[in-house]
Amino acid sequence: MSALREKTAWRALEQHKDDIAQQHLRDLLAADPGRAERYRAEAVGWRLDYARHRIDDQTLTHLFALARECGLEARRDAMFAGEKVNTTEQRAALHVALRTPSRKSIKVDGVNVVPDVHAVLKRMAELANAIREGRWLGFSGRPIRNIVNIGIGGSDLGPVMAFEALRHFSDRALTMRFVSNVDYTDFAEAVHDLRPDETLFIVASKTFTTLETMTNAHSARDWLLAAASGDEKAVAKHFVALSTNEKAVEAFGISTQQMYGFWDWVGGRYSMDSAIGLSTMIALGPDAFHEMLAGFHAMDEHFRTAPLERNLPVIMGLLGIWYTDFFGAETVAVLPYEQYLKRFPAYLQQLTMESNGKHVTIEGSAVDYATGPIYWGEPGTNGQHSFYQLIHQGTRLIPCDFVGFGQSLNPSGRHHDLLLANMIAQAEALALGKTLQQVKDEGISDELAPHRVFEGNRPSSLLLAERLTPHALGSLVALYEHLVFTQAAIWDINPFDQWGVELGKQLALRVVDEIESPRKPLHHDSATNAAITWYRKARRK
Ligand code: F6P
Repeated sequence: MSALREKTAWRALEQHKDDIAQQHLRDLLAADPGRAERYRAEAVGWRLDYARHRIDDQTLTHLFALARECGLEARRDAMFAGEKVNTTEQRAALHVALRTPSRKSIKVDGVNVVPDVHAVLKRMAELANAIREGRWLGFSGRPIRNIVNIGIGGSDLGPVMAFEALRHFSDRALTMRFVSNVDYTDFAEAVHDLRPDETLFIVASKTFTTLETMTNAHSARDWLLAAASGDEKAVAKHFVALSTNEKAVEAFGISTQQMYGFWDWVGGRYSMDSAIGLSTMIALGPDAFHEMLAGFHAMDEHFRTAPLERNLPVIMGLLGIWYTDFFGAETVAVLPYEQYLKRFPAYLQQLTMESNGKHVTIEGSAVDYATGPIYWGEPGTNGQHSFYQLIHQGTRLIPCDFVGFGQSLNPSGRHHDLLLANMIAQAEALALGKTLQQVKDEGISDELAPHRVFEGNRPSSLLLAERLTPHALGSLVALYEHLVFTQAAIWDINPFDQWGVELGKQLALRVVDEIESPRKPLHHDSATNAAITWYRKARRK
């Protein structure tokens, strides 16, 4: 049995789960008028209401004890201190340094990295201002008006999510596009209405070797050169690179003067506030970008210093452990009642699942408990008319994170009241449900009544803030980053590597070679051979 399952608090939770499983949220809420007040935590402008969880004071006591028994605080401090907590790659994981104010110091291998962070931010701001003020000219002398970020995974999802989330604050004279998929359609659609001489490509890739990004970057180069009569000098005016790999950037033909660097201690999915955020900074302007960084930093400080019992990422992380490991929940739904957060669930999928989709402990032994749940979601109220049916009446337990704001950025008539009313009502309906008796009292026939029953007892959190500002977005993302870290600490897994993406990448290189050399004999399993044979024929039609 794993060390985790032998921990005192884990065993206590196992026993305690049976008590809680007997209780209904309807009764827990009815019996305890102080519950909403007690199960609320606030920090950095965010308010977490967690009264609709299948917990009582005892549950929380055991969960916090588990966090302490697993050394969460020491692990957290090691991360903030720049220790090599990414053990399989022998790297620090210091995304928190990316938003640390310049007066502070964080050392990696004895060197303070904060001045380097701010030097890059300064260069990014110079470029952003030049573009925003129409001073950056394309090959024909016209100002750059279109920004196309080419990247994938962490080099795409953070930038596109942040742009969509903060679009309200963006310069509407600029057109922002994001290309990630190696499917040429993604590129073709992104540029089809753009003038090449007004377009700047940002090639975003930590490694600068990622197949999708490099393929798209080469296509972008061809597209530009076709319009610039093959004049290679045009490339310098239309390409910048965001990367840690200077050599590969130069080999592509982008001078290091137009490269914005970051460091191996920034993981891809933790990189949206490094140079990878250049598109965000161009769209919003440096001041709003810094406001976002301040939001990240404020949540970092909260996570680092607040007692576990009042610590938002810790509370949310532990609630996730409770459902994943003791109730067998397999997924978490993230339901933003804010249209601007439409890409937030997609962003969270990489953050949470690439981080905590792990099957061995830091020491390399197989885990005998469930780790990272599946994250998914859509903005409310759209999801209500799609998949909420299953959350309400299906057979699975799906804890939900509702995210909502007191004020709309586009207030009009009753829209926001209706939006928020729906969010609050959904949380209420999930928790309380509707009993058979209630259904019958409404005059529903005996035949139909079972179909109209809502079991309820379905847990959810409300995450609430005043408005979706750059600061609020930064603190929200940092909240989830640290939630992921909290869970990884309990599970004793490394949330900072991603070896699971490698095998498919290697095989794809072999398969593409076989597709393009149709005479090559195939030595895969029969199913793979059949698929390659099919495509060899299909591509010729
Ligand atoms: O394949 C997964 C991954 O390595 C992610 O972790 C990363 O965010 C993405 O690819 C892109 O990597 P890069 O920024 O090096 O192109």
